Amino acid sequence: MSSTVLIGAQWGDEGKGKIIDVLSARADWVVRYQGGSNAGHTVEIGEQRFVLHLIPSGLLHPACRGIIGNGVVVDPVALLKEIDGLRERGIEPAGRLFVSDRAHVVLPFHRLLDARREQNRAGGTLIGTTKRGIGPAYGDKASRVGLRMADLVAPDLADLLRPRLAEQNRILEALGAPAMDTAAVVAEYQAAAARLAPFVADTIPMLHAAVARGERILFEGAQGTMLDIDFGTYPFVTSSNATAGGACAGSGVPPHRIGQVVGVVKAYTTRVGEGPFPTELKDETGARLREEGREFGATTGRPRRCGWFDAVVARHAVMINGIDWWAVTKLDVLDALETLRICTAYECDGRRLEHVPADVRVLERCRPVYEDFRGWRSSTREATRFEDLPERARAYLARLEELTGAPVGILSVGPRRESTLWLKAAGEGA
Ligand code: IMP
Repeated sequence: MSSTVLIGAQWGDEGKGKIIDVLSARADWVVRYQGGSNAGHTVEIGEQRFVLHLIPSGLLHPACRGIIGNGVVVDPVALLKEIDGLRERGIEPAGRLFVSDRAHVVLPFHRLLDARREQNRAGGTLIGTTKRGIGPAYGDKASRVGLRMADLVAPDLADLLRPRLAEQNRILEALGAPAMDTAAVVAEYQAAAARLAPFVADTIPMLHAAVARGERILFEGAQGTMLDIDFGTYPFVTSSNATAGGACAGSGVPPHRIGQVVGVVKAYTTRVGEGPFPTELKDETGARLREEGREFGATTGRPRRCGWFDAVVARHAVMINGIDWWAVTKLDVLDALETLRICTAYECDGRRLEHVPADVRVLERCRPVYEDFRGWRSSTREATRFEDLPERARAYLARLEELTGAPVGILSVGPRRESTLWLKAAGEGA
């Protein structure tokens, strides 16, 4: 494997944490390149369950090094909490985890603004953000008023921070939110900076040296294609490029160094937060998927909306990311269903649509065109080879491949590392 980019092909929560964990067993470096602590990657190892938000999941493998790239927005307090959490469980990140000095810092007013703006939004425009300050932090980056990790660890941090806090207090006040205690925030961030300083580095030459040595790099996408700021269901999206293209801009590794792109999809679909979701099931089957699949947010605990597999969305993801093969997760969640459906196209205002429309108002009106399948009604959990799967489960996956134009390389039939099937398409590449 040269460099692999792993991305979510739906609305996030595809089970990327587990797939990154199994792939990073063969990687030297795992790199986060966008998003922030809005992400929640869950990994189960033996009896232990880890939920990581900012730290690349690859760090759970002792030989793997992790980078939080320039494209990520870093909440220093949240990062320290995660570092401490790993230490408590006997995993030492020092010397193995590096945070780009170009990554932007999430500050308390970003979180406060995020929450306040959501609160002030009228019903139909609510985004349902994770309230981790992501939108305002990326907004400051684009407005060129953000603070970066290099600023956080600089001796003049207080001088940089104070005018920002004064300005933001005026904005918070205008929005009807309580002001921040400037001295307390400065002290908190100075303390965090002192603890994080050993982790902050110029990660670009580091990665280029790794590429030159032929080391294997895994880029860990967060969120998913349909939450991408350009290609998702705007404005019901996150504020970064969650798609494969983001890996280069968010790490400093050039496009021609990317070897392959792996797309992660659930065998069905979920979405957390607001926004259109054509195959959503608001009935008993949706509730059943939520129960069986334990579909509650890893970051916010919110129940996820559940629905059938949407091949229109998956084809959109194949185009934009250049997906070479799929990692399909949670097939086992479908084990007990009598009937399954896959959405093959949309119908909207009397027209058939093969692609995701840009306008969310149009997408809201889209009705899925379904193809039905008989369920296999037996457990896939014990399968260790593709051939062990019930015939109807194989047929379901074969149709998924056909409709999306990409083969399945990894199949996950349970949360544990062992519940992972490797198929031919993953080949040498994995
Ligand atoms: P934000 O990223 O917190 O601004 O939230 C924007 C939208 O993206 C909301 O609908 C969130 O629920 C969704 N979102 C953000 N991060 C994740 C994630 O890691 N998984 C799933 N949804 C997410």
